[in-house]
Amino acid sequence: MRLTSRRLGLAAAALSLLVVTGCRQDMHNQPKFYPQRGTDFYADGRSVRPQVEDTVARNQLHEDAYFYTGLVNGKEGDGMPFPATMQVLERGQERYNVYCTPCHSRVGNGIGMIVQRGYSKAGSFHSARLETAPLGHFFHVISNGYGSMPDYSAQIVPADRWAIVAYIKALQLSQKATQADVASGAHVEPLASIAEREGLPASFADEWVLPPTAVTGTPDNGLYVLPVTGAGAAGTTAAAPSRNNAAAPAASAGKTAPKQ
Ligand code: HEC
Repeated sequence: MRLTSRRLGLAAAALSLLVVTGCRQDMHNQPKFYPQRGTDFYADGRSVRPQVEDTVARNQLHEDAYFYTGLVNGKEGDGMPFPATMQVLERGQERYNVYCTPCHSRVGNGIGMIVQRGYSKAGSFHSARLETAPLGHFFHVISNGYGSMPDYSAQIVPADRWAIVAYIKALQLSQKATQADVASGAHVEPLASIAEREGLPASFADEWVLPPTAVTGTPDNGLYVLPVTGAGAAGTTAAAPSRNNAAAPAASAGKTAPKQ
C-alpha cells in the first residue's frame, strides 16, 4: 500500500516536470534571424532586408538640410537654424565642457588636458581665421571631424551641436571683450587683478603654454607598435621585432621626449 502511494507520487512528479518543461517552449524555438547572418529564405541570401527604394524610415526624414549638415548648396552656411537663446547657450556650454574641453580647454585655446599629455595640439578658437569662420564650419567639424580630431556625430545630436556652435561664438567674444561690450555700470575686472586678489601665482593670467610634460610621439620618436601577446601564436616570428620596439618606452621611461 505504502509502495503504491510512493510510486504514484513519483509518477505525479514526473508528469508535472513534463508539463513544466512543456510550458518553456513558448517562443524559444521560433524561426528568427541573427544580425548579419545569412538565410536561404530570401533569394539574395541576406536576412537583413535593404530599405525599400523611395521610402523614408521613421525619424530619418531630414527635411531641414541646414539643420543636419550646416551646408547651403554644399558650402558652410553662416547662421543658426534656430534662435540662440540663453537656454541654448547654457546647453552648449554644458555639452562643450563635456565633449570639447579635454582637447580644446575651457577657454578654447586648444591646450586641453589631453593635449598637455601629448595629443596633437587642437585648434585655438581665437585665431583670426576661426573668429570669422561661418557657424556652419563649426557644425561641420563636430559632425565630420577635422584632421586628427575625430567626429562627434555619434555622441552629440544635431541640436546640441548647434548649441555648442553658439557657445563657441560666445567663448570667442568673451576672450576679446572690452568694457564697451558689457552693459554700462557692469563691473569688469582684469583676470590678472582677480588672480592677485585671490593670491594665485602671478603667471595665472598669462597665455597658456604647453608644459614640458606634453609628450609628442614615443620617447625614441620611433613608430609605436602594439606588443604581441601570446607567445607561440601563429605569426609571432614575423612580429618579433615589434616586441623589441614596444619595450623601448619602458626602457627610457622618465625621459622627456623632444618636442616635434
Ligand atoms: C580628442 C581631442 C579633441 C576633442 C575632444 C575635440 N577636438 Fe576639435 N580639434 C582637435 C584637434 C587635434 C584639432 C586640430 C586638427 C588639425 O588641425 O589637424 C581640432 C580642431 C578643431 C577645430 C578647428 C578646425 C579648423 O578649421 O581649423 C574646431 C572648430 C574644433 N576642433 C571644434 C571642436 C568641438 C566643437 C569639439 C567638441 C564637440 C571638439 N573640437 C572636440 C582635437 C579635439
